[in-house]
Amino acid sequence: MALTLDRNSIVCICIFFLTLTSHATSRTLPQHSIATMHEEWMEMHDRVYVDAAEKLKRQQIFKDNLEFIENHNKDENKRYNLSLNNFADLTNEEFVKSHTGALYKPPESSMINHSLGYHNLSVSDIGSNLDWRAKGAVNKIKNQGRCGSCWAFSVVAAVEGIIQIKRGKLYSLSEQQLVDCASMRGCSGEYVERAYEYIESQGLENEEEYPYKEIQGTCDVSNPGNHRITGYHTLQEKSEEALLKAVTNQPVSVQLDASGKAFQFYSGGVFDAECGTNLNHAVTAIGYGEEADGKKYWLLRNSWGSQWWGEGGYMKLLRGTGEPQGHCGVNLHATYPIVD
Ligand SMILES: *[C@@H]1O[C@H](CO)[C@@H](O)[C@H](O)[C@H]1NC(C)=O
Ligand SMILES: *[C@@H]1O[C@H](CO)[C@@H](O)[C@H](O)[C@H]1NC(C)=O
Ligand SMILES: *[C@@H]1O[C@H](CO)[C@@H](O)[C@H](O)[C@H]1NC(C)=O
Repeated sequence: MALTLDRNSIVCICIFFLTLTSHATSRTLPQHSIATMHEEWMEMHDRVYVDAAEKLKRQQIFKDNLEFIENHNKDENKRYNLSLNNFADLTNEEFVKSHTGALYKPPESSMINHSLGYHNLSVSDIGSNLDWRAKGAVNKIKNQGRCGSCWAFSVVAAVEGIIQIKRGKLYSLSEQQLVDCASMRGCSGEYVERAYEYIESQGLENEEEYPYKEIQGTCDVSNPGNHRITGYHTLQEKSEEALLKAVTNQPVSVQLDASGKAFQFYSGGVFDAECGTNLNHAVTAIGYGEEADGKKYWLLRNSWGSQWWGEGGYMKLLRGTGEPQGHCGVNLHATYPIVD
């Protein structure tokens, strides 16, 4: 009888220590718990590695990322959260290389048409909140996967938006057609301008007619694309007001710096992490808003799926900082399609 009791208490103590360990900071997590967590994560995300060496390497990266995430989430004053998402076994360098894909060079000023076809909005006409999803101008979140095709996703979402606004119908259009036909570089990153010029001259097919393959293939335009734009405009750079007016009118393609682990693991809240202005990623601004405490943000639609990253695939990016370039450079290269 006494023996049984002792056994029970030993079992209890062991469980107690295990619980204690897994709740402590990740830095003190023993390697075997990391291995277990990594394996559970691999199963959840269907991840398989070529050999044991690769698995060990990925486990170390997983551990570094886990520590980064837990350290951030411990901060009681944080404005945004991070989570261990499907990118947890990638270094930030690998992640940026495989999941972004926007190119940028400052355009010559003579090439920019800053004229705003529609705007006669004054700032006082602009409310504090707008969400184009609520107006039916935004499709479900898509996923570019491991292909530097953000440039196509960003522009397509803006085009889908303006077509819905002008014609009253929301189509889902083909990013793959742009990857195959509008660019020599495809999954290696491209200028958003290429996407607009292609859609203006050739038109886009529907998503189901030309589905996404996450890899560049041969251009197949047996069905001519029937969704066209009349042109596109580039916003005056370094003007939050210009961007605000444009987004009030329609979803707008914006470029920003998506480098950094905070961006990689963002899971919600107003993203105010330090970031640069290397415009390596393109997303679509689909609205804006203001938190109860007055913190302003852009509503950005990303193309990294809806399940693991962000708020169902969306990000609230800090707005109203007073920096001309905008947070993460968001005011530096915004463009929108024109449909007559
Ligand atoms: C600029 O865009 C406006 C509106 O689309 C157009 O009327 C005008 O001709 C364009 N200007 C140039 C120089 O392309
Ligand atoms: C723009 O708005 C201003 C002030 O409301 C008005 O005076 C002007 O005529 C408008 N311009 C156009 C082109 O509608
Ligand atoms: C972060 O996550 C916690 C737990 O889910 C939540 O209570 C908190 O509101 C989140 N913070 C932000 C800034 O989203």
